Amino acid sequence: MTTLRPLRWTDFLTAYRLASDPDERANARDHTMPTLRGHFRWMRKWVGGRLCKAWTIRVDGKAAGIVRVERRAYPLNEQEMSVVLFPKYRGKRLAQWGIKEVAGTMHAMTMWVTTAYIKKGNRASMGAFRRAGFRFTGRVVNGLSQFVYDGGE
Ligand SMILES: CC(C)(COP(=O)(O)OP(=O)(O)OC[C@H]1O[C@@H](n2cnc3c(N)ncnc32)[C@H](O)[C@@H]1OP(=O)(O)O)[C@@H](O)C(=O)NCCC(=O)NCCS
Repeated sequence: MTTLRPLRWTDFLTAYRLASDPDERANARDHTMPTLRGHFRWMRKWVGGRLCKAWTIRVDGKAAGIVRVERRAYPLNEQEMSVVLFPKYRGKRLAQWGIKEVAGTMHAMTMWVTTAYIKKGNRASMGAFRRAGFRFTGRVVNGLSQFVYDGGE
């Protein structure tokens, strides 16, 4: 069974391993590998944060990845979504499920525009976001293509 649950402090090592994944670092804005101290600060921001929400994607009770949403009031009340899976869970159309669940709920409950910023060569991510209901806006910001969720409308 595939489920989502909010990130907790007990997910510290899971989140650290995901953040240290080479593909995740290559596709993130900040390419530097996390330190434990830096990861502690990261967890403080993401566990129970007001503007940052994160969930673990779980398959049969095991952590498969993390989907998260960070809110920014400027420039357009936007919430940026990102996702990462452990390598053994990739290629199974799992990310799009997590993205769709979170984006759909957010879309129904908030006025925020849900976006994703994806590196040009990251075809796997573009495919997952597209299939989850995002479309490319035509904007490229610092080399990252902007996608927006339209709620399947
Ligand atoms: C991007 C990512 C979340 C996609 O999730 P996913 O559930 O594996 O996506 P899909 O199952 O739809 O597969 C995406 C593509 O990768 C291919 N793929 C297959 N096995 C794979 C594997 N073991 N590893 C990576 N990609 C694989 C699939 O064939 C698919 O190609 P297609 O769209 O042409 O069919 C995942 O690859 C990942 O965690 N990447 C590293 C972090 C990252 O880039 N995050 C996005 C930041 S916005």
